Amino acid sequence: MTHAFGIDIGGSGIKGAPVDLDQGDLSAERHRIPTPQPATPKAVAKTVRAVIDHFGSDAADLPVGVTIPAVVQRGITRSAANIDKRWIDAPAVEILSQLVERPVTLLNDADAAGLAEVYYGAAKGNQGLVLLTTLGTGIGTAIVHRGVLIPNSELGHLEIDGFDAERRASAAARSNEDLSWPEYINRLQQYYSHVESLLWPDLFVVGGGISRNAAKFLPKLELRTPIVPAELRNRAGIVGAALAAADPSIQP
Ligand code: BGC
Repeated sequence: MTHAFGIDIGGSGIKGAPVDLDQGDLSAERHRIPTPQPATPKAVAKTVRAVIDHFGSDAADLPVGVTIPAVVQRGITRSAANIDKRWIDAPAVEILSQLVERPVTLLNDADAAGLAEVYYGAAKGNQGLVLLTTLGTGIGTAIVHRGVLIPNSELGHLEIDGFDAERRASAAARSNEDLSWPEYINRLQQYYSHVESLLWPDLFVVGGGISRNAAKFLPKLELRTPIVPAELRNRAGIVGAALAAADPSIQP
């Protein structure tokens, strides 16, 4: 199988595209539809269907992988830190598969991005312990060891100074609190030092929109672990979802 379809469900947009799995890249320009409000499982599933339908026959026979910013266990979404609370304990795979009219593979958004970076991006071929973090509305994390994903790590919710880490160190925290770069770098320093003391990864990969500005903050962090920007940028979720859909052996 060299092609699959990937969809990234986010708080503001639902984005999808067919993916060339030999290249690890989109094979057509991605299509985005604003996330319906309220973002109930059914409303979101209908939008997922609309994104696929946009590609007509180009998407017709492809396996479909979907990412969501939630813990996903055996097809059930278990958490909803930054999404509609109705996703908690929702039979998400069932709802999506019904509306899409084919089997759907569902995984956590950061987990998908982690797989994509290890297979095609900044951690390509890394045979150690890779820890991907995405700095966005929240902090997403993926642990990949020797190419195998350990799903649902949720290290964005570690407690730091009595707060949920993502409330202190996500990209949203930086803009909500209008933090200067030095202030924000202090928060990231605390976060990454804490994570590396717990898990001793071989490599940190940093994704999320803010990784565009990686030169402003990554070199300033003092860590024993190498830390590099993600390479697939806003394609990582889509590519990782497609990869998981096409290859059951790497599905969480
Ligand atoms: C959620 C994670 C998600 C991350 C990034 C966190 O708030 O708990 O499941 O991966 O945000 O979207």
